Amino acid sequence: MVANPNPALQDQVAAIITAAAAGELPAIVQAGHPTLRTPAPAWQGQLNPRELESLIDVMRQCMHAAPGVGLAAPQIGVSLQLAVLEDQHLIDPETAALRERTHFDFLAVLNPRYQGLGTETAEFYEGCLSVPGWQAVVPRHRAVGLHFSSPDGSEHYREYSGWPARIVQHETDHLHGGLYLDKAIIRSLSSNAEYATRWAHPGIELAQRELGF
Ligand code: NI
Repeated sequence: MVANPNPALQDQVAAIITAAAAGELPAIVQAGHPTLRTPAPAWQGQLNPRELESLIDVMRQCMHAAPGVGLAAPQIGVSLQLAVLEDQHLIDPETAALRERTHFDFLAVLNPRYQGLGTETAEFYEGCLSVPGWQAVVPRHRAVGLHFSSPDGSEHYREYSGWPARIVQHETDHLHGGLYLDKAIIRSLSSNAEYATRWAHPGIELAQRELGF
């Protein structure tokens, strides 16, 4: 059953699913594309359950292939409040501890909304598959509460802190036309190569001092 069918969206998603089945994953939309700057319509059942499930599966494949820890539907050109999140990457224990980077089991969210919990913020480098080659420090809520719907229609509220909270905020912002650069401390902007050479420390103190932010 499709609650609110959107034939144009269904056609677009069908083409993505067909191409993926033939081994061609959708390209990740790059900054400068208007879809990334357009608030995505809320999920209201525009696709049937099989279409939604297949779309989520393609997004998960895309996220793994990139590789990334999250992907929002607008990043494959689909304007819909849908994102996938997953972080199973192993990083060194010191960095993981300081950044509070813990495993984040795969999650698909529809219509996510977050609010900061408490007043604490955390500042770390992050990047985005739609802005490849660059990273910048983004101050974010250290902890958030997230309301979302699951593909099965159930409603949820979960609380996240540390790196998972950062992923939640980054991906949810995508669904509202935001990019991490909107919130970044722009003087921290660093190419991946410069980041790897100079700033790949658990914290940002050295980069703060040397780049002046
Ligand atoms: Ni992103």
